[in-house]
Amino acid sequence: MKYTKLGKSDLTVSRICMGCMGFGNAAAGQHHWTLDEAQTREIIRHGLELGINFYDTAIAYQSGTSEQFVGRALRDFAKRDDFVIATKFTPRTQDEIEAGVSGQKHIENYLNQSLKNLGLDYVDLYICHMWDYHTPMEEIMEGLHNAVKAGKARYVGISNCFTWQLAKTNFYARENGLTEFVSIQGHYNLIAREEEREMAPFCADQNIAMTPYSSLASGRLSRRPGETSRRLEQDAYAKFKYDATAEADNKIIARVAELADRRGVSMTEISLAWLLTKVTAPIVGATKFSHVEGAVHAVDLELTQDEIDYLEELYVPHALVGVMAQNGRQRAGNVV
Ligand SMILES: NC(=O)c1ccc[n+]([C@@H]2O[C@H](COP(=O)([O-])OP(=O)(O)OC[C@H]3O[C@@H](n4cnc5c(N)ncnc54)[C@H](OP(=O)(O)O)[C@@H]3O)[C@@H](O)[C@H]2O)c1
Repeated sequence: MKYTKLGKSDLTVSRICMGCMGFGNAAAGQHHWTLDEAQTREIIRHGLELGINFYDTAIAYQSGTSEQFVGRALRDFAKRDDFVIATKFTPRTQDEIEAGVSGQKHIENYLNQSLKNLGLDYVDLYICHMWDYHTPMEEIMEGLHNAVKAGKARYVGISNCFTWQLAKTNFYARENGLTEFVSIQGHYNLIAREEEREMAPFCADQNIAMTPYSSLASGRLSRRPGETSRRLEQDAYAKFKYDATAEADNKIIARVAELADRRGVSMTEISLAWLLTKVTAPIVGATKFSHVEGAVHAVDLELTQDEIDYLEELYVPHALVGVMAQNGRQRAGNVV
C-alpha cells in the first residue's frame, strides 16, 4: 500500500479508502445487499491487513448500523492512531426545522450520535454529506468549527457539492477564522468525469483532497458488459444512475476490458489506476475479499500516458445524476 497526506491536513491516508456503505443491517436501510456484522468484520480485517487505513461511512448508511459495525471492527482490530475514520451527516430534517433546531445544534446532535454508533471519542474527518438548502451556510460552518474545537472531529470535508459551493464555504471560513473543508467526496470515475470541469482544478489550486465515491461506477467498471452480480441486480439506485448513458459508457468499459487483457490485470485495476492518477484516494466499495485485493493491487499499477489517453478519448459530457442532480434541481429553486 502507498500512503499520502489528505490535502492540507495532517492525516496520512492509504491511497485506497474503503467504502463502508455495503456494511450494516440489511433490514434497516436503503440497501438490501449489505453485509452482516460477521462478514463486515472479515472485510475490514482484510483491508487492515493489506494496509488500508482509511474508512468511509455515514450515519445515513443502514440507519447508523454501518457506523456501529465499522466502529466495533476498527476498535477491535487496530489501534486508534492507526486508522482514519470519516463519517457524514445529512441535512436538517423537516421536523428539526419546525422544532427550531439550529444548524449548529443539528451538527452537534448528529456527531454525538455518530460517535456513539462508532464507539469513538472523535472522528478524523466529519463530512457534510450533501448541500443543505434549508439551513444557512454560516450555521453549518460554525457547527463544524465547534465540532473541531470540541475535539470531536479532527478535520471536516464535504460531499456532493458544486465547486462554487466549496469555494463559498471555504472562503467564508477563512475570512471568519473557522475550519475549512480539507476534502471533497464527489461522484467521479471513468464514466462520470464532470468533476474535471471545475472541481479538480480548484482542488489542485487549493490543495483540497479529492476522495471520490463510486470509483468503479458501482461495479460497472469492474466487469464486462453482460456480466452481473447480486448487487447489480438489487441496487436499483445505482442502476438508475447509469442506465441513461449505458450505450456511450459501454464503449469506455470495453476499452477498460481491452487494456486489462493487454496488461494481464483486472478491469478494477485499470479503472482505479486511472483514477489514482487524478485524485488523493478513491473510495472503493468492498463486500468480498477479492474486491479489497483488486483495489489494493491497483495502487501498484502504472498506466502509460497513451493508455490514459485511450481510456479518456471516448468520454462525452454526462448530465449530473443522483445527489448532485438533486443539488442542481434545488439550486434552481425546485422543491425536492
Ligand atoms: N457521498 C456519497 O453520496 C456517496 C454515494 C455513494 C457511495 N459513497 C461511498 O463510496 C463507496 C463506494 O461506492 P459504491 O459502492 O457505489 O462504488 P464502487 O466502489 O464504484 O463500486 C463497488 C462495487 O464494485 C465492484 N467491485 C469492487 N471491487 C471490485 C473488484 N476488485 N473486482 C470486481 N468488482 C469489484 C463490486 O460490485 P459487485 O458487488 O456488483 O460485485 C462492488 O460492490 C461507498 O461504500 C460509500 O462509502 C458515497
